[in-house]
Amino acid sequence: MGTAQLSPSMMCADIFRLGETIRLFEKLHIPYLHLDVMDGSFVPNIMLGTAEIRQMRAFSHLPMDIHLMIEEPDDKLEWFTPQPGDFISVHAETTRHLQRVLAKIRTLGAKPMAAINPATPLSMVEEIFPDVDAILIMTVNPGYAGQKLVNQTLEKIRRLRSLLDDRGFDTVQIEVDGNVTLENAIRMRKAGADIFVAGTSLIFRDGSMEEHIQKFNAEMAKLESGGSDTKCPRLLAEQAF
Ligand code: DX5
Ligand code: ZN
Repeated sequence: MGTAQLSPSMMCADIFRLGETIRLFEKLHIPYLHLDVMDGSFVPNIMLGTAEIRQMRAFSHLPMDIHLMIEEPDDKLEWFTPQPGDFISVHAETTRHLQRVLAKIRTLGAKPMAAINPATPLSMVEEIFPDVDAILIMTVNPGYAGQKLVNQTLEKIRRLRSLLDDRGFDTVQIEVDGNVTLENAIRMRKAGADIFVAGTSLIFRDGSMEEHIQKFNAEMAKLESGGSDTKCPRLLAEQAF
């Protein structure tokens, strides 16, 4: 298991302070910018499009983690100008040819990720482990920021991690998206998550964004050294979910 990585959800950012926010992420070596693309059909909202992505690419070299919540992404991938180092995720629920779309993302030079909603079973992605660099477990129903965790997704992360490991896909990462509070991030990390979408629950909220990020990094480091369990009995109790 590698280091826990943050992927800030840019739809949650204050658009009037976008530039300074991205410069802060660069300074703190944030590995990805999470871009939620919503089409108003697969999800009940419309968010971020090709223009925003193009402008962000011109402004920063940070890799992108583009989360496509759009129907039939198959012939739309090129619109997002995939770059080496980027993740592009497509929902298993949105295409009849998931394997083909994932292979196409790879051909276009980006890292393929398959995403599933809380109600979608893991069996929907079991056959495409060889075709992905990561699997995105939605921990809320996609569409909006500020929702509450769907609790059973914690157990789903744990099952996915052991399925991947048992089948020799231990390098395939697990991303989690939705209500990633610091407390939930700790539970998700224990279940096997690697990449954490940071929205209104973690960094885009009151207080210093830099401090929120440092706190997250410190808690993750504590977990790696095994320190957190011994210091916080409540977390011990939560370990079994
Ligand atoms: C997908 C989005 C949301 C959101 C995450 O629908 O990716 O999950 O930005 O941020 P929270 O849940 O912390 O507001
Ligand atoms: Zn997302």
